[in-house]
Amino acid sequence: MKIAILGSGGREHSLTYTISKSKKIKKIYCLPGNAGTADVAKNIKININNFEEVYKFLKKEEVDLVIIGPEQPLVNGIVDFLEERQIKVFGPNKIASQLEGSKIFTKTLCKKFNIPTADFGVFEKIEDAKNFLKNVNYPIVIKADNLAAGKGVYISKNIKEANIAVEEIFNGKFGKAKNLLIEEFLDGEEMSYFIISDGKTIKNFGTAQDHKRVGEGDTGKNTGGMGAYSPSRLINDELETKILNKIIKPTLKGLDELGTNYKGFLYAGLMIVNGEPYLIEYNVRMGDPECQTILPKLNSDFLEIVEACVEQKLERTKIVWKEKKSLCVVLCSKGYPDNYEKNIKINNFDKLILNENNYLFHAGTEREENHIVAIGGRVLNFISLSDDLTNARQNIHNNLNKLNWDKGFYRRDIAFKVINK
Ligand code: AMP
Ligand code: GLY
Repeated sequence: MKIAILGSGGREHSLTYTISKSKKIKKIYCLPGNAGTADVAKNIKININNFEEVYKFLKKEEVDLVIIGPEQPLVNGIVDFLEERQIKVFGPNKIASQLEGSKIFTKTLCKKFNIPTADFGVFEKIEDAKNFLKNVNYPIVIKADNLAAGKGVYISKNIKEANIAVEEIFNGKFGKAKNLLIEEFLDGEEMSYFIISDGKTIKNFGTAQDHKRVGEGDTGKNTGGMGAYSPSRLINDELETKILNKIIKPTLKGLDELGTNYKGFLYAGLMIVNGEPYLIEYNVRMGDPECQTILPKLNSDFLEIVEACVEQKLERTKIVWKEKKSLCVVLCSKGYPDNYEKNIKINNFDKLILNENNYLFHAGTEREENHIVAIGGRVLNFISLSDDLTNARQNIHNNLNKLNWDKGFYRRDIAFKVINK
């Protein structure tokens, strides 16, 4: 089969690498890909938000199946666009993608189906939001309604901080804002829960905890994700049953009532408070770096799973996982998530120890003649599988020491809640 994968991050390199192991693969294209995907696929420089261009390419190359990595094209309706043109595609349609594209869509659905989530209010006027903030308990959470790459969320400790958040959102810091959300602060521990769905059947696709803050001890600014481990330390059968019955199934029922269904990966960002799951947000794709963390644990043929979803045969498809735990550390450019230098050479790739338990997935990298340069904030993902997370993290640190990239930094404490107790 000829496959195309859209996106250019660590998530997409892990998707590309994992699917390349399938016997049925004839050719893989990555649009636009990175220096890592170029090792297993052909990179094609195309703007993936230009659907006509994407379609022209897929048609010309007679691509059999397309996998969409990031949220933006999904929210913009790429799945509907391609399906209307008879291209098979793995990912949710435009209506279902509002689960990530509009926080208000999701909150309204939560209210209708009694899905546990933080209490919230929607505000269209700056004065109304500010008046409301005079009489609330702090900390409080303030969110832009649109896609903001994980950055449109403020946790404000007092009214002064809250007013600044409201002003920044309405002044368009995260794009044009018609309204914002003010939410109760949930005090618990976060967990990412993943399912894969064909529109009829859902199956578990792993759990993880990621570390979104830039600094050790989960401090400092929010980022796309500095590292993760899987499975989450919080998951057990009782909690999983609650997540499915109280959150996932009612959500799918809500989509059904809207006359649609869910196909693709669904990522529930949860806060677990005293053993009870609350929905913080949905993402309509795999997480990054959770995808890189989870996929190396897969024992089944990934292409068969994706095909089964597109053909609505997931019920009969077995998904088998390795028993091992997995940990991922993200190597970033110094300065991220603010300003950082670009086009910085990285050496020593040949010194890394990579094997069936140790993986390297590229994110913001590009090949330049005979070497690789960093072009993004999050640059490389190091993953290790082991029975023991301490050992996994040590393997990664050994590789990071060998790479010895002095323009980069990483968090040394990924999984600290389970490792250095
Ligand atoms: P989001 O982009 O909605 O995932 O929010 C980014 C981060 O803000 C989450 O990963 C949480 O750490 C935090 N957060 C969001 N909403 C809440 C809430 N209601 N209570 C506590 N923390 C929250
Ligand atoms: N790791 C967080 C995300 O992918 O949104």
